Amino acid sequence: MSVSPSTQQPIRWGIVGTGWMAERFAVTLSTTPEAQLYAVASRTLERAESFARRRGVSKAYGSCEALLEDDSVDIVYVATPVTRHREDCLACFGAGKPVLCEKPFAVTAAEARDIVDASRQASLFCMEAMWMRFHPLLQQTRELVRIGALGDIGLIQAEISTRKRPDPHDRAMRPDLEGGALLDLGIYPISLSHYLFGRPDDVVARLKMHPLGVDETASLVLSYPNLIGTFTASIGAGLSGKAAIIGSTRRIDLGPSFINPPWMLVSEIPEAPVRQSAVPQAVHAESRARKIIRSIPYARTVNDLISTWRSELDARLKVEAKGRFTHAPPGTNAIRLEAEEAMRCVREGRTESKIMPLSDTVDVLETMDRARSAARI
Ligand SMILES: NC(=O)c1ccc[n+]([C@@H]2O[C@H](COP(=O)([O-])OP(=O)(O)OC[C@H]3O[C@@H](n4cnc5c(N)ncnc54)[C@H](OP(=O)(O)O)[C@@H]3O)[C@@H](O)[C@H]2O)c1
Repeated sequence: MSVSPSTQQPIRWGIVGTGWMAERFAVTLSTTPEAQLYAVASRTLERAESFARRRGVSKAYGSCEALLEDDSVDIVYVATPVTRHREDCLACFGAGKPVLCEKPFAVTAAEARDIVDASRQASLFCMEAMWMRFHPLLQQTRELVRIGALGDIGLIQAEISTRKRPDPHDRAMRPDLEGGALLDLGIYPISLSHYLFGRPDDVVARLKMHPLGVDETASLVLSYPNLIGTFTASIGAGLSGKAAIIGSTRRIDLGPSFINPPWMLVSEIPEAPVRQSAVPQAVHAESRARKIIRSIPYARTVNDLISTWRSELDARLKVEAKGRFTHAPPGTNAIRLEAEEAMRCVREGRTESKIMPLSDTVDVLETMDRARSAARI
């Protein structure tokens, strides 16, 4: 590795995989100062070359091994299906390369431990690409929880979905690639729960299976001493994507997607007993906002509608929720923040990130193992 903290030359990234997430990561790197989109590897040279042309990558390789032989690659981003992560990461460490590996980091906690052990033996940087943890509103949420701003927290709820067509070639629909809602999407609420509250005492999980042999919907209950987390992940049902952390005095709502939230609402919880009319005001405000959208005659285009909707909704929520409505800073890109942390660690010779530590990654997969066993898979 030719990078040193003193030479501020760009960090040369090698990307393994040419799928959906590899494209998204490459787009972000192309606008990230200090990062160079240097190399890409595919199982076929043609796909690597096509990706390289599309994304302006300097070198294209027909295998992960060929990319790892290139001395100029400073760090590897592993964007293959989860069933490949252990082998790809171990190959990287064998070649002396630090790694940023996509979520889920591994299929099981045992596999994750193998990867972590190998990175530590090689004294090489390794991090799970759970970019949610780099989002400023998630970090603010954690701080509010930590300082007790919500009172006694009794409940965390979250749901997440990406609606999939029943395509047997789609990674998420393939049992041989460990597709399905629990591992692919359930990892996010489990990681959120660990981020805020640590390891749960008990895990319950139930699944609805898809005819293609993967779990289409997974419901989870994570129990802590005075707190429960209820989570749903689905590749079939259209869920909201929101999360709520509910304390005795305040609640935090993150939406419309808790993994990449444009807004966070901190609102007061009415005094108990909670009557029907005292349901958190944000809920009423949101349904009123929908009525506002329907009543805007001057919104001619979709963009008009969206910007009008945003400002109307913000104004209403601010007034009606009697809470603090915070937007993510303009231009927030948590993937970039994650890549920057990886580059900072590599430059500083650190082997792991304090924001996304390897012990947390393994703990989350232990909870995932318990969820699978509770669901009898
Ligand atoms: N953090 C996020 O927001 C996010 C979002 C989506 C996915 N992900 C994660 O990113 C990883 C990749 O997901 P994706 O959605 O990009 O998947 P994808 O579109 O199916 O791409 C995966 C790529 O991996 C390569 N690959 C290597 N071995 C493979 C094999 N045996 N079968 C299929 N492909 C293989 C393929 O590239 P070649 O054919 O060129 O070799 C393929 O294009 C997964 O771990 C997923 O959970 C993360």
